[in-house]
Amino acid sequence: MRGVDLYDHPPYARNLADGGSNQTVCRYMASLKKFFFIKARDFVHAGEASIHIQNLLKSMHLDPALIRRIAICSYEGEMNAVIHGGDGILNVNIESNRLTLEIIDEGPGIQDIQLAMQPGYSTAPEEAREMGFGAGMGLPNMKKNADDILIESEPGKRTRACMTFFLGLTKEVQ
Ligand SMILES: Nc1ncnc2c1ncn2[C@@H]1O[C@H](COP(=O)(O)OP(=O)(O)O)[C@@H](O)[C@H]1O
Ligand SMILES: [Mg+2]
Repeated sequence: MRGVDLYDHPPYARNLADGGSNQTVCRYMASLKKFFFIKARDFVHAGEASIHIQNLLKSMHLDPALIRRIAICSYEGEMNAVIHGGDGILNVNIESNRLTLEIIDEGPGIQDIQLAMQPGYSTAPEEAREMGFGAGMGLPNMKKNADDILIESEPGKRTRACMTFFLGLTKEVQ
């Protein structure tokens, strides 16, 4: 049986109780896709997508250490879009052996990704610093906690952070 085609099915369940996310459950394989909208500078709702994902993973009884790593990455990525990026979307895709998080926002992008990945580097504005953000540890933490990470950006346009977690494996995080 080929499972891939099932991914092409459009999301059918608009789940308003879930903050407007969409959910597709593929019947023939243990696979689940969800997406959440992220609004730039909306500090009232910031972090909600990550809380939904964390609760979902808890309900699936994933290993608590793995849930923690995914939750850290999801939250840091979501907050980066809220603080530094533009409006965007957080996609989560759970397959039998892996989970991917993809956070895409519409700018202004990252000029120098290597520099942005340095621990302590931050361009967080005063508004965010007053709320305790801006330690410059978000991207390093995402790198540390994900099994695989890809940060891409078109400066002036968009940023895409994609992180993969292998569900059967345990990663030692110091
Ligand atoms: N989605 C994004 N859009 C634009 N710039 C970003 C984005 N994510 C991260 N950055 C840049 O990378 C820097 C480092 O990010 P991070 O390590 O999360 O630290 P912090 O969020 O505390 O500033 C940010 O200060 C910002 O300059
Ligand atoms: Mg950050």
